[in-house]
Amino acid sequence: MRLFSALCPLFAVITSLSLSAATLSVTSPDGNIELILDDTHLSYKVQFHGQQVIAPSALGFRFLQLPALGEGYKITGHSRNSVNQNWQQPWGERATVLDQHNELAVTLKHPERKAPFTLRVKLFNDGLGFRYEVPQQGVAKLDIIDELTEFRISDSKQSTAWWIPGRGWNRYEMLYRTTALNEVDRAHTPFTFKLPSGVHLSIHEAALVDFAAMVLDQQRDGVLKSDLTPWSDGIRVKTNGSFTTPWRTIQIANNAVGLINSDLILNLNEPNKLGDVSWVKPGKYAGIWWGMHLATQTWGSGPKHGATTENTKQYIDFAAKNGFDGVLVEGWNIGWDGEWFLNGAVFNFTKPYPDFDFAAISAYGKEKGVKLIGHHETSGHISNYEAQIADAYDLYAKHGISQIKTGYVADGGQATRIDENGIERKEWHDGQLMVNHYLYSVTEAAKRQLSINTHEPIKDTGLRRTYPNWLSREGARGQEYNAWGSPPNPPEHTAMLPFTRMLSGPMDFTPGIFNLAYNGLDAENRVQTTLAKQLALYVVLYSPIQMVADLPEHYDAHPAAFQFIKDVPSDWAQSKALQGEVGDFVVFARQDKHSDDWYVGALTDEKPRTVTVKLDFLPAGKRFSAQIYRDGKDADWRTKPYEMIIEQQRVTDNDSLTLPLASSGGAAIRFKAEN
Ligand code: NOJ
Ligand code: CA
Repeated sequence: MRLFSALCPLFAVITSLSLSAATLSVTSPDGNIELILDDTHLSYKVQFHGQQVIAPSALGFRFLQLPALGEGYKITGHSRNSVNQNWQQPWGERATVLDQHNELAVTLKHPERKAPFTLRVKLFNDGLGFRYEVPQQGVAKLDIIDELTEFRISDSKQSTAWWIPGRGWNRYEMLYRTTALNEVDRAHTPFTFKLPSGVHLSIHEAALVDFAAMVLDQQRDGVLKSDLTPWSDGIRVKTNGSFTTPWRTIQIANNAVGLINSDLILNLNEPNKLGDVSWVKPGKYAGIWWGMHLATQTWGSGPKHGATTENTKQYIDFAAKNGFDGVLVEGWNIGWDGEWFLNGAVFNFTKPYPDFDFAAISAYGKEKGVKLIGHHETSGHISNYEAQIADAYDLYAKHGISQIKTGYVADGGQATRIDENGIERKEWHDGQLMVNHYLYSVTEAAKRQLSINTHEPIKDTGLRRTYPNWLSREGARGQEYNAWGSPPNPPEHTAMLPFTRMLSGPMDFTPGIFNLAYNGLDAENRVQTTLAKQLALYVVLYSPIQMVADLPEHYDAHPAAFQFIKDVPSDWAQSKALQGEVGDFVVFARQDKHSDDWYVGALTDEKPRTVTVKLDFLPAGKRFSAQIYRDGKDADWRTKPYEMIIEQQRVTDNDSLTLPLASSGGAAIRFKAEN
């Protein structure tokens, strides 16, 4: 051996490294998932039921001021911990969440460097998370120029991925692509894919705080590498010498719905930091909104101005009559005029238009028991907004507002900040600056008992657990695309969202458009669903605040169907995805948080299909009256979108229901508990 080493220096290096190499492993509580860390070249791999699902993948960072962290670091110590406990959510898909995991914390040190770092790994039965905890490295400024974390997938050509591209002009508002995994270039997370074995995985991150978002970049086939969104100067993340990363997460399930029935992302976030949050209220809201998207009203001033005192009072009446909690008003403030998406620098968040009488409107809302919901469109001008945030939130709080929808309409890479030297800089919506800005808005709001619903947001990473006033957000193509998008959302879009975007958290999709074809059935811009599918969205696309998005007069044509929107809650005791395939169809059952009632929502893509739903989720022996809203015999989103059957049936947990879903159709059911 010695002779061979002398002849072959490379071999000598490898042997000496492998002689000192060490591995450590940790498994999920049920033993099905195993992560193995190997310090030969500092890598990890993951097995599921003994099969490798993530091949050996690199770990580490490169810095501007210091040598890289990763290769060459050796395991010098470790500790283990196990947790099995429930915690309560103030609102959510379920009231009680089980946090059951095994933890491994590994100390890694480079023989020639002083400061070690910790890699902390948590394995749950539904996946895992790991993060880097890097203590002070002895420099006042440490800029991350690259993250080296990889997720290697061996069968990339035979695996299917559902994804949207990262770093595009349209942020997260893209149609999902279905491709072989090796055809992905740069993708946002949650990044969902299926191995040839049928195992489904989704790579994402949890607790994204003071860091840049992780986008995945596929370099060689099957090598997905973390590609942190940079600042305008090219630095990925600016630190003061120490940092803790968000959790890099991998959800793993035997089937597609297994990804949905997971609390991994929430479990990896810190508990509520706001204390008593009884002031945070889920609910349903109407709004002066769809008219602007249909261009029958305007945000800006003029004869079609939507946000007038009179209009708002009418919406308050509509909400009060039907039991909705709030009314959103967009386009109420000075600066919002003309080409408003270019107006970022001039928006004034404390001066209403003269035809919007703030005091009179809030008094009227109070009298009717309906909350006014505020709106701040910033057009992505962060400096202009931050300079006014305190006064703007004070003003809303003074008028009894408790929820604000914020907006950041600017192309990807075009959010504006004015730097210390007065120079305008352009940043990404998912870079470190914006990650910090969005959370700043949420914490400033919390000080005044205001809740936030962010549009053009940073992707969700479960921070609602820590800051429960971050109620909802957009972060995908919502209903608005049906008014003006080219193309609008195709039938499969809402069959795609539950398995992709929604894995990250609630979405303000704004369901409930009843006038599906305002320009005629053949127009490009129309809603490509049946009416029953619009109802199903309230159960399928979770958000603690659900919009009743259409114009009030459009509900008059379908009073019986409208009843479902009045009945459906937006806060749940339990939730379960029962069946589904990514981009094809999905069936959910959820239990109301405040009654014994259950709800089912089912929807399909362009393909009609019949689903049989076993009612074994209902409590044993209890009788329910099932109020079923489903597609009629000839329903089809293209030709007969309104054809719907509404029927009642008495059922128990021993029954099943057969639901025929039309092309882009759906079904929505209320199971009303009988006494
Ligand atoms: C985009 C948002 O998604 C939409 O809901 C809003 O109406 C407009 N921006 C204007 O802020
Ligand atoms: Ca499909």
